Amino acid sequence: MSQGYVLWFTGLSGSGKTTVSQLVVRELRGRGVRIEVLDGDVVRTNLSKGLGFSKEDRDTNILRVGFVANLLARNGLAACCACISPYAAVRDAVRRQVEGDGGRFIEIYMDTPLDECIRRDVKGLYKKAMAGEIKGFTGVDDPYEVPARAEVVIHTCQEEPHASARQIVAYLEGRRLIPTVTQG
Ligand code: ADX
Repeated sequence: MSQGYVLWFTGLSGSGKTTVSQLVVRELRGRGVRIEVLDGDVVRTNLSKGLGFSKEDRDTNILRVGFVANLLARNGLAACCACISPYAAVRDAVRRQVEGDGGRFIEIYMDTPLDECIRRDVKGLYKKAMAGEIKGFTGVDDPYEVPARAEVVIHTCQEEPHASARQIVAYLEGRRLIPTVTQG
């Protein structure tokens, strides 16, 4: 059985987690990797439906996502998770769970400055948060704890999403977690 692993994207809303993770997943599936996706926006419509954005609810959300990801990883599959996951302690708890069961946990920090996320404001939520219409919005009036030891750090301001995805794929190749593609 191939080694299971969890790709854990973390970063502010609008930092590029979904965009880059989709590119990575497409590339991996093209190489025959069996990988499932757990994206925050989708998870919150089913697995975590009804949860809000208090610290307690965010932690519950992350523990649920981590639980499912670990089930996959310990069966030799890959899981790609993309949630803000603003609190370091709960990210580390998921890491311990996955590693404790023999899987690999690869934390991918989307290091996109808040100003850039506000400029993009794809969902229009930063505008509302800054107008006080949404309370407790990550980066505006709620914390985001930067990972201290992420396996991969992505600077989305300095490169196109495809280049970011290639950086992650190269990391996975380097760790022999995915098959390499031979040119020819
Ligand atoms: S997490 O904090 O629990 O990891 P998650 O990734 O699932 O968050 O969901 C984040 C998404 O919910 C954001 O991209 C945004 O669309 C939406 N959202 C709604 N309210 C908030 C809020 N107060 N803070 C952050 N994101 C919010």
